[in-house]
Amino acid sequence: MDISPSATQPKTVSPKPPDGMDAELSKLGNNLVTKFHVLMRISQIYDSKNVALNQFVQEFLDTINALIKREGVLSLKIRKDDFFLNDQRLRYSVEGFTSFKYLLTQWKKRLIGEVIFRTSMEEGSLRYFIYTLINLEEGREENADLLRRQLESRNITSIEANPLEVVEGEEEAFTVQKEDEREVAKKIFFETIGTIKEVITNIKGKQHADVRKLKRLAQKAIHLVIEDESILLGMTMIKNYDEYTFNHSVNVSIYSLAIGKRLGFSKKTLTELGITALLHDIGKSKIPREVLNKPAALNDEEWEMMKRHPLMGVEVVLNLKQLGEINPRMVVGIFDHHLMPDLSGYPKLFRKKEVSLFGRIIQISDAYDAMTTPRIYKKIPYTPGQALALMLREKAAHFDPLLLKIFIGLVGVYPIGSLVLLNTHEIGIVYKTNLESMWLDRPIVLLVDRDEEGHPKKELVDLTETDGEGGYKRTIVKTLDPYKYHIDIAKYFL
Ligand SMILES: [Fe+2]
Ligand SMILES: [Fe+2]
Repeated sequence: MDISPSATQPKTVSPKPPDGMDAELSKLGNNLVTKFHVLMRISQIYDSKNVALNQFVQEFLDTINALIKREGVLSLKIRKDDFFLNDQRLRYSVEGFTSFKYLLTQWKKRLIGEVIFRTSMEEGSLRYFIYTLINLEEGREENADLLRRQLESRNITSIEANPLEVVEGEEEAFTVQKEDEREVAKKIFFETIGTIKEVITNIKGKQHADVRKLKRLAQKAIHLVIEDESILLGMTMIKNYDEYTFNHSVNVSIYSLAIGKRLGFSKKTLTELGITALLHDIGKSKIPREVLNKPAALNDEEWEMMKRHPLMGVEVVLNLKQLGEINPRMVVGIFDHHLMPDLSGYPKLFRKKEVSLFGRIIQISDAYDAMTTPRIYKKIPYTPGQALALMLREKAAHFDPLLLKIFIGLVGVYPIGSLVLLNTHEIGIVYKTNLESMWLDRPIVLLVDRDEEGHPKKELVDLTETDGEGGYKRTIVKTLDPYKYHIDIAKYFL
């Protein structure tokens, strides 16, 4: 069943109530949005008489009636990108985000802006309402009227619907929601960089390091990866080589989570994988800065020290106060992340073993991020395309072939962040890959050309778009090196 896991966990939604809205009302409001979301999704799978629906209808009904009992009447209304419950803005947490986003998008598509419930509701009316709502044709202006008339025809007067109020400058109202998601992603991304920095600094200073915070952040990132991985994948383009270790850890975590999602990992396993990836290089906190940031090649002694970082990582993790948050799978993942399938690499083993799945996933994410990031000893990094080509050819023996395939399917033939030349002579940046495997070479591209007045176009184009004569409007001709064109790719993802 296509139900987002977050939607089934309304109990965890307890956002801080905004000023003027009490905690209970805020909780009930969040619950309402979650139940509404679940019911709309389920109704798209089953017909209105299916018994599978009963429980969800009942739960939704209970929430509505609890609110009506408290408030007398219940209005849920969209204003810009927010829901207002009886004229007060509902705040949502990251856990509740999926439901809010879904409901906003679905209502906006159907141009429904407000639903009012009056007097106690009964099950039959609610069922009829939901099915009428989901069957409304998208983009039809008279939808609210139509819905009202259909309800009246059944003598249902306790539910009312009003059209979406289009706020000026917001013609394509429902695409704006994406921006919110990007904001949440950015916040999580930078917060995680800050937290990993804190953890590493504390470990260096032999102070208490709080990994529980990392766990919470990993859980938030997982919600986003499940919903739309391309947003977080775009964040990995933000490279800052002064803070390489922190940035790198977060990027490796994002790639690993995206691979884990493709492998169908549970949320619990994804959380473990996310934390392991965040901590994979934690052993480097024991290596002197001069060695880590040495612009020249390492001497033998320094290289030996560097090769000890996986083992030192294990030691650090085992000494963490909240060891309860760490399980053997995570420790082994850190130990394994430079061991190749033929057990070359490091650390040296005394006994044969298989490289763990976590280790193999992190290895791919690690290599790709390292190759595509400028470093003190390699200021111009590989382009995403060059890095993938290298991983597939020269370095193929370093990676698990199946996982590498999954990874390529994930980043696409033209990975997010690639600078590309189109057959229309426009230059663009790959912004989002198309999930359909037949369109791996037709991503969504952000044009970086300038218009006649010299302003950046910043227009998103979908390369699957056809020209109406059997051809495609735009096709990638080749990838370009952003350093040659002085284009700061990261800027386009901020
Ligand atoms: Fe490493
Ligand atoms: Fe690494």
